[in-house]
Amino acid sequence: MTIHANSANEQVNWEHFLARRTQKMKGSVIRELLKLTQQPDVISFGGGMPAPELFPVREIEEACNFLLRESPKSVLQYSTTEGHRPLREYLVDTMTKYSIQCSADNILITTGSQQALDLIGKIFIDTGTYVLTERPTYLGAIQSWRAYEAEFVTVPIDDQGMQVELLEDTLKETPIRFIYVLPNFHNPAGTTLPEERRRLLAEIARQHDLIIVEDDPYGALRYSGEDVIPIAALAPERTLYLGTFSKTLTPGLRIGWIVAPSEIIHRLVQAKQGSDLHTSTFDQMVANDVAQRGILKAHVRMLRKVYGERRDLMLDALTEFWPEGSSWTTPQGGLFLWARVPSPIDTVALFPKAIEKRVAFVPGVNFFPYEDGGYDAMRLNFSNAQPEMIVEGIRRLGLTLKEELAHK
Ligand SMILES: Cc1ncc(COP(=O)(O)O)c(C=O)c1O
Repeated sequence: MTIHANSANEQVNWEHFLARRTQKMKGSVIRELLKLTQQPDVISFGGGMPAPELFPVREIEEACNFLLRESPKSVLQYSTTEGHRPLREYLVDTMTKYSIQCSADNILITTGSQQALDLIGKIFIDTGTYVLTERPTYLGAIQSWRAYEAEFVTVPIDDQGMQVELLEDTLKETPIRFIYVLPNFHNPAGTTLPEERRRLLAEIARQHDLIIVEDDPYGALRYSGEDVIPIAALAPERTLYLGTFSKTLTPGLRIGWIVAPSEIIHRLVQAKQGSDLHTSTFDQMVANDVAQRGILKAHVRMLRKVYGERRDLMLDALTEFWPEGSSWTTPQGGLFLWARVPSPIDTVALFPKAIEKRVAFVPGVNFFPYEDGGYDAMRLNFSNAQPEMIVEGIRRLGLTLKEELAHK
């Protein structure tokens, strides 16, 4: 085939070729914001990233060397869509400790829990399907489900997570297909849903014959208080539980999982085959090796200590440096807290002023599916910055808020 000399001048109207669903797709605003915060002198509370200096690098290196030496043929080969069997069996043990009864047939390994969200969209969402989420909620789920042309109805949270008692009224108005909930150390709010609300949620889902998607990336990272029973243990017949090693081991391995009734796992497997055949064999076997040798458990113990200290440091700094009229959640675990600023400050307008002071956060509006709230709030991450930077960053934000108030 010869390529015309003038082909470089010919224009293709790509918009003309795109599927209708692409009109609903949006890039992640947070990822765009984070680009601004990547200059080395900016203290960023923006991302949801673990502390990189704590990654178990040597242990992962040892696992890689061991696997390449002992099982090169399987570690570098294609594998089953369901996932590496020993890893699924390890996860059965872990889930059983969380009171979630399951077998390996109830577990699908995914490429991070972000893929789990996408596969859920692929098998449950038609054009115009209503999904019920919390307000605010994890924007990655919205981003994924928008691509399947979902619509969203929302139930507000308070400092104990989803206000489950408001569900009934919402359900009367809109026929929804599933409820998406972040019960442990909510992203972005840091809240935890108490057991009574979980039981009520399970009961309402049964009465209305709905399914629940329980997204739990942070549950193992508890710094105070007692573990609360997962919703998947209360309504196993209708709950899809999502877990991940991103926050407890490393996000770069991209290992997540779904626990669900086996007939739904079967559907998800079909959906996954069309996406990526299976999650990286190498990454699954490395994660399995690290987990089976007890390294993951010890690592989580260490993370709980370090992140717990960072959370306390941030809470103390907020008390010391932020003006009257501010408030914030006190998370029992996870990576985030949700801070409210004094009226009439708008956190979107505040963002560039904070960047001028070399400190970053995510404005609350980014966690609202229809951008109809959160202008008085921001998400602050406390896992990623070094302790002295946490105090300095909160001091700078306090100063920015005080200057803003003086101008109002
Ligand atoms: C609530 C929630 N769900 C899912 C994810 C996706 O995590 P991953 O794909 O790294 O497992 C995240 C990541 O921050 C999250 O906060």
